[in-house]
Amino acid sequence: MKLNWIGAVALTAVSAASAKQDDLAYSPPFYPSPWADGQGDWAGAYQRAVDIVSQMTLAEKVNLTTGTGWMLDKCVGQTGSVPRLGILSLCLQDSPLGIRFADYNSAFPAGINVAATWDKTLAYLRGQAMGEEFSDKGIDIQLGPAAGPLGAHPDGGRNWEGFSPDPALTGVLFAETVKGIQDAGVIATAKHYIANEQEHFRQRPEAQGYGFNVSDSLSSTVDDKTMHELYLWPFADAVRAGVGAIMCSYNQINNSYGCENSETLNKLLKAELGFQGFVMSDWSAHHSGVGAALAGMDMSMPGDVSFNSATSFWGANLTVGVLNGTIPQWRVDDMAVRIMAAYYKVGRDTKHTPPNFSSWTRDEYGFEHIAVSAGAYERVNQLVDVQRDHADLIRRIGAESTVLLKNEDALPLDRKEKLVAILGEDAGSNAWGANGCDDRGCDNGTLAMAWGSGTANFPYLVTPEQAIQNEVLQGRGNVFAVTDNWNLKKIATAAKQASVSLVFVNADSGEGYISVDGNEGDRKNLTLWKNGDNVVKAAANNCNNTVVIIHSVGPVLIKEWYDHPNVTGILWAGLPGQESGNSIADVLYGRVNPGAKSPFTWGETRESYGSPLVTEANNGNGAPQSDLSQAGVFIDYRHFDKYNETPIYEFGYGLSYTTFKFSDLQVQQLDAPEYIPTTGKTEAAKTFGKVEDASQYLYPEGQQRVQQFIYPWINSTDLKASSGDPLYGWKDEQYIPKSGTDGSAQPRLPASGGAGGHSGLYDDLFQVSVTVENTGDVAGYEVPQLYVSLGGPNEPKVVLRKFERLYLEASQQQVWTTTLTRRDLANWDVAAQNWVITSHTKTIYVGNSSRKLPLQASLPHVQ
Ligand SMILES: *[C@@H]1O[C@H](CO)[C@@H](O)[C@H](O)[C@H]1NC(C)=O
Ligand SMILES: *[C@@H]1O[C@H](CO)[C@@H](O)[C@H](O)[C@H]1NC(C)=O
Ligand SMILES: *[C@@H]1O[C@H](CO)[C@@H](O)[C@H](O)[C@H]1NC(C)=O
Ligand SMILES: *[C@@H]1O[C@H](CO)[C@@H](O)[C@H](O)[C@H]1NC(C)=O
Ligand SMILES: *[C@@H]1O[C@H](CO)[C@@H](O)[C@H](O)[C@H]1NC(C)=O
Ligand SMILES: *[C@@H]1O[C@H](CO)[C@@H](O)[C@H](O)[C@H]1NC(C)=O
Ligand SMILES: *[C@@H]1O[C@H](CO)[C@@H](O)[C@H](O)[C@H]1NC(C)=O
Ligand SMILES: *[C@@H]1O[C@H](CO)[C@@H](O)[C@H](O)[C@H]1NC(C)=O
Ligand SMILES: *[C@@H]1O[C@H](CO)[C@@H](O)[C@H](O)[C@H]1NC(C)=O
Ligand SMILES: *[C@@H]1O[C@H](CO)[C@@H](O)[C@H](O)[C@H]1NC(C)=O
Ligand SMILES: *[C@@H]1O[C@H](CO)[C@@H](O)[C@H](O)[C@H]1NC(C)=O
Repeated sequence: MKLNWIGAVALTAVSAASAKQDDLAYSPPFYPSPWADGQGDWAGAYQRAVDIVSQMTLAEKVNLTTGTGWMLDKCVGQTGSVPRLGILSLCLQDSPLGIRFADYNSAFPAGINVAATWDKTLAYLRGQAMGEEFSDKGIDIQLGPAAGPLGAHPDGGRNWEGFSPDPALTGVLFAETVKGIQDAGVIATAKHYIANEQEHFRQRPEAQGYGFNVSDSLSSTVDDKTMHELYLWPFADAVRAGVGAIMCSYNQINNSYGCENSETLNKLLKAELGFQGFVMSDWSAHHSGVGAALAGMDMSMPGDVSFNSATSFWGANLTVGVLNGTIPQWRVDDMAVRIMAAYYKVGRDTKHTPPNFSSWTRDEYGFEHIAVSAGAYERVNQLVDVQRDHADLIRRIGAESTVLLKNEDALPLDRKEKLVAILGEDAGSNAWGANGCDDRGCDNGTLAMAWGSGTANFPYLVTPEQAIQNEVLQGRGNVFAVTDNWNLKKIATAAKQASVSLVFVNADSGEGYISVDGNEGDRKNLTLWKNGDNVVKAAANNCNNTVVIIHSVGPVLIKEWYDHPNVTGILWAGLPGQESGNSIADVLYGRVNPGAKSPFTWGETRESYGSPLVTEANNGNGAPQSDLSQAGVFIDYRHFDKYNETPIYEFGYGLSYTTFKFSDLQVQQLDAPEYIPTTGKTEAAKTFGKVEDASQYLYPEGQQRVQQFIYPWINSTDLKASSGDPLYGWKDEQYIPKSGTDGSAQPRLPASGGAGGHSGLYDDLFQVSVTVENTGDVAGYEVPQLYVSLGGPNEPKVVLRKFERLYLEASQQQVWTTTLTRRDLANWDVAAQNWVITSHTKTIYVGNSSRKLPLQASLPHVQ
């Protein structure tokens, strides 16, 4: 384990199995790990953190950096505490869409639905509402939002947890979510950092469970340009928004693990983007003690080497590592300062209470340390209802994220239908209950949330069948509902009699530790599940007014029926959360005029997307290799544009019950300061408090030890014995870079100098305005979208840069004004290691999808 941390060099030493290791991508070293300096609006929080950390002993600092072990406390992760200074253990809890493993909490729409709204305010409000719930349960750190995976592969299992494969759309909504969560007083975690684009092979033990004997987890090869322009982009937005925590991912990047990759952590995140918060490992993504510390990781989760191993790479080992001089004191001080700075920045100190729920049981009473049935037998679940009035927001986001893809006079419905058929299993309830499958690991009944750790328990789930039946009954109509997808005859019979057939179909996916119907996290195909295509066709062949509603984790193939003359309507409702039925009824019955836009492309076939998943061990017994550089920045619509693939529905597309017109594109150049690459040096690293001799860090006399619990103390002053590592001290000189311990002032990177990178990147260079007019006779939403062509032979045809969701009354006109920053117009220049506006002509386009761009203008050259 210890050998992997320096990247490809060490990997070669441990996995001699493949003769081709030397050709593998390599991650260059970048040391030392940048220390926080309280820049920008972190100043106040940083100072308070320095003040408190200065009072801490080494063991107390180590306690903050290390989890207490899997299921040893109530939350999915908990750090040690500092009782002497009144600092409680920090509680970390999943997920990006609500509180996992709890009760009386809300189940919010998934991130992909937020992306479909294209609405910054809704992203913020959802973040804030989630933050309120987390805070009320006594959670300090929410493990979300996600922008990794970004969505390089349309079948990637966890794409739905994040937003969209477009980095600009994701970046804006990711940042708004972070702000919402943190304004509610909870630390947000931007994850999974980085290039974590598929479930297959993401973790070696999991892959072995699926029968692949590989020595290491998947490695994503990402070149520097693709990294900056695609995968890193939304993380820069999160850092700029002040995110307190970032979670490093399971996968390797260029054959160096995400949680010990000095290039991605030290260089990109901390030196270039100026991240001031802390980096925590994904659960069991921590693979080395000294290596991860020097490469920039700040918190080990859940703390143990592997779940319940009773050992830790950190804890006592981190104490030992400082005492034996391998890890400089300033590095551990920096970890503690970063954690405490995030804590103060969001105002956690005013809200911090112990968790009042337990992740591990729904019983009210249980053991304090459930993994080992030890500690107090107490009221672990206080059943605190934290839902407030969030159901209203959930219903609204569900409706406002529903994309109308096709409408041939079918919608909106009125309540005058004589007979409505509701067809498909996806309309009804799960016979096992909405929470009937652990972590939603099944596709029974309507799909309102996908599976894995990115889930929450439903407090209830309004099904489409329930909500639509209520509507029809109010108009005194009749309803036939058939939810058995395998009885096409019954479906046809109901459809034949109905004046409208509402057909519900779905496609699911999730996290790799659960396999559903042979889908090992990632989807094994892009088709509908459970006979969905045949259900649609059975209805459409018998009913000339068939409306299809799709609940899915991403694109599905609809080629077989989307242009069937009897399919008069198609809607994509994504994963809407607990109010699913009410949300879709609001749209079907016209109370909400659909204004959502598809956050991804609908291709004819899987092949039309390119960028295949790696599903076979393609590197012998070595780490499977996923070459994300091959697609480069050309994912989703950029790929379709480049290869002249015609999508069925393009990125950014979505209809309304009204129509809109765009006119009068105006561009004005603004005065902006010159962009001067950053030079100079940082300050030298500081230490806070002092390290005593080893005898001061022995287990205190009489200290009770809970089995498996991870403590910061050491067994004896014999450091080697206290570590217990059979490889203790072995080849340290060879594998530990000398610069890793260097605390002297370091050169600043040219693209650094602000939160999210050089502040000049965020200077406005142009103002753009356009008139949007509602040309129909009902009020509705439109999303003007501004795309840029950066020019040059190897650039995408267009890339999204700006958007806004507007509400316009019938016949209303509105001028939408936005600005373009230097970053919006620049490319990453690998040689200069900076953003550069190339001399190629920049053209801007405005319209309402990536392919409907009626207005255009070219920009004068700027630098
Ligand atoms: C990965 O390797 C490529 C060269 O193949 C290089 O451009 C890039 O900077 C490296 N990235 C990381 C994170 O190591
Ligand atoms: C570390 O945290 C544990 C668990 O909260 C606590 O029992 C212990 O006293 C802490 N150690 C120190 C040095 O504060
Ligand atoms: C958790 O619930 C308990 C019991 O209702 C309550 O006293 C405590 O304040 C709650 N914590 C928070 C943060 O609301
Ligand atoms: C897995 O691969 C390793 C290294 O190649 C080998 O030693 C081991 O026997 C293999 N295990 C199984 C179960 O095939
Ligand atoms: C220290 O880390 C090593 C792995 O590098 C592990 O084998 C050992 O058990 C750890 N020691 C403690 C006390 O957790
Ligand atoms: C629910 O899902 C599980 C797992 O896919 C499946 O085995 C089971 O048959 C389903 N149960 C019902 C009632 O649909
Ligand atoms: C695709 O996968 C789904 C879910 O496992 C399955 O129901 C469907 O039959 C598969 N489609 C094809 C064409 O194999
Ligand atoms: C459309 O529906 C009608 C019943 O309303 C049916 O007779 C006709 O065959 C259907 N058309 C097609 C192409 O299936
Ligand atoms: C659909 O079929 C109904 C009879 O079921 C008929 O009254 C109606 O005109 C048909 N509509 C169209 C557009 O063909
Ligand atoms: C430290 O002491 C405890 C209690 O005796 C023991 O269980 C543990 O294995 C020891 N750790 C090491 C690394 O020897
Ligand atoms: C110092 O301690 C760390 C953590 O136990 C260990 O990995 C490393 O090999 C040790 N180095 C030396 C030189 O003793």
